[in-house]
Amino acid sequence: MSAAKQRIDELTDTLNHHNFLYYQEAAPAISDYEFDMMLEELTKLEKEHPELMRMDSPTQRVGGGITKEFKTVAHKYPMMSLGNTYSFDDLQEFDNRVRKQIGNDFEYVAELKIDGCAIGITYKNGHLYQALTRGDGTQGDDVTTNIKTIRSVPLKLIGEGWPEEFEVRGEVYYPLDVFEKLNKDREEIGEPALANPRNAAAGTLKMQDSAIVAKRKLEAFLYFLYGEDLPYKTHWESLQAVKSWGFRVNEAAAQCKDLDEVKAFINKWEHERHNLNFEIDGIVIKVNSYQHQRNLGFTAKSPRWAIAYKYKAETASTELLGIEYQVGRTGAITPVAKLQPVALAGTTVRNASLHNADQIEKIGLRIGDTVFVEKGGEIIPKIVGVDLPKRPADAKPVVYATHCPECGAELIRNEGEAKHFCPNEDGCPPQIKGKIEHFAGRKAMDIEGLGSETVELLFNSMLIGNIADVYDLTKPQVMQLDRMADKSAQNLIDGIAASTQIPFERVLFALGIRYVGETVAKKLAYNFKTIEAIEAASFEELNAVNEIGAVIARSLRDWLDNPKHQDIISRLKTASLQFTLSEDKMQPASDKLAGLTFVVSGTFANYSRDGIKETIERNGGKVSGSVSGKTSYVVAGNDMGPSKLEKAQKLGVKIISEEEFTSMLS
Ligand code: IVH
Repeated sequence: MSAAKQRIDELTDTLNHHNFLYYQEAAPAISDYEFDMMLEELTKLEKEHPELMRMDSPTQRVGGGITKEFKTVAHKYPMMSLGNTYSFDDLQEFDNRVRKQIGNDFEYVAELKIDGCAIGITYKNGHLYQALTRGDGTQGDDVTTNIKTIRSVPLKLIGEGWPEEFEVRGEVYYPLDVFEKLNKDREEIGEPALANPRNAAAGTLKMQDSAIVAKRKLEAFLYFLYGEDLPYKTHWESLQAVKSWGFRVNEAAAQCKDLDEVKAFINKWEHERHNLNFEIDGIVIKVNSYQHQRNLGFTAKSPRWAIAYKYKAETASTELLGIEYQVGRTGAITPVAKLQPVALAGTTVRNASLHNADQIEKIGLRIGDTVFVEKGGEIIPKIVGVDLPKRPADAKPVVYATHCPECGAELIRNEGEAKHFCPNEDGCPPQIKGKIEHFAGRKAMDIEGLGSETVELLFNSMLIGNIADVYDLTKPQVMQLDRMADKSAQNLIDGIAASTQIPFERVLFALGIRYVGETVAKKLAYNFKTIEAIEAASFEELNAVNEIGAVIARSLRDWLDNPKHQDIISRLKTASLQFTLSEDKMQPASDKLAGLTFVVSGTFANYSRDGIKETIERNGGKVSGSVSGKTSYVVAGNDMGPSKLEKAQKLGVKIISEEEFTSMLS
């Protein structure tokens, strides 16, 4: 066996094992850093020897495959739905029917009903073969490439005894914390929030670029095994087997000897479900024995041996006091219902989101109404209906705002869009302040000391009215502000000055152009290299860039064509901001540094820290954070860290200067 094959096998097995410990056992044994280093090594070896890459390689988890159109594939076992009940009476009826058919000697398995997106995954000879969505129940979409990015879904099975071919069914879902973060990120780039984790999961599974799916951190629970001649007698046994092969099975599942135990399970989770990091919409009850399941059989739509008990979403009723309109950074108007405070699912609710005008109309809201408020996966509860018999005679119909509550501009609503917008982007206070805050944010210009409070103060004192004004601020002006001492004023001025070194791609993101998030900004910067080239590009030329769609291109063109924005760019140029891609990032790629591992330390004359790392990688080299026996070179800049220097000397690793490094590339 070649050394490369041996190392690839070793890394694949080790990484898969650590993945398992991390995701299935929640017991990581190595640091993320160590994991990443090994993954990096494996990626490189696989690139050099593509023929040696294993089917279960963890590198597939990072995605990369693009699916233009999802193939429709027939389900081997139809994907049925479950009968629903909402009451213990219905449940009793189900239990009676079961007893009538199979007698009294049986038991149930009760499980959480995960509110996600159903998936069926087929394994052949221990390897993940294919993953299908539910579709219409008889045929689904082939989403294999995307499912492979979910780290809790094994690519290769562990343990023993798995059938040569089988299918596991389960649910793909967004953990609630991941979902909240996703929506926050969307808000940041002016995209509307996703309604709930379930829809978001379904949407993500159908994304064309699996590399994006890989970053989204979907999760999966598996709850059913299908196969021919399975050696198991009960569903419970099969769940244990599935678990032992490396699948993630929800721990809450329990065997129940009768309906009373099932009811106790239901009651327990009615409350505890609010502490889970995922949504459940009920409990699934299954007759445990396979023989009993066969006896009971199926109706046209669902098995007779299983049923779903659905929790009623927790609701409260309270009075609608009024409606307020919030204006976001992009000018989007969000109506917010102001409520008489009421307790709901462990918190006091004062506001409820209403999304847009259509929704208010659909519910038929009037001020003074008693409304039903419900808490779902969203952080803010929503209004789901009106208690009509309680409507007071003087309840006033809601007249949707026609003008911006902040600046008085007439609101607009674009064709096909649900939300109203305030078009006064450069004159509406929350939009101005929001844009400046975004501009100064950590991922943008990273201006220390320019948080929301300071922006508010500066804006109210009329010292800034747009992002270009930031660079005209003087220390005496800043010192006039409340609670601004000499030191904090100096820090702010220094922070502003330092931001002029922020690279072009981040400046582009900082401008706050609708739909131009971090990734799009990078794409634009690398493609066009200068702001002048972007300004000169036609809609078609912008649209021709990979991943820049028509909506982004239109939004960019509109922004650039606005004379006010042209003036801002010109003032920012005068303030010496970076509007050209830095030299180091312009260099073309090569494989001149292939096989070499670098550690960089200190600061450099012609490269930024990230720039030199990118240069190394773009030329085939590897960057490591710490000096070890495997380090080929330490590139020493000014003020190199003493510990790195000492370690390099001790290990006899060659230390080179920036000039020597540059000459390696020429
Ligand atoms: S068993 C024939 N178990 O709920 C067996 N389903 O409303 C059918 N679901 O299609 C599925 N958690 O998408 C089962 N522990 C669980 C479940 C579960 C969520 C979903 C699944 C199913 C739907 C039925």
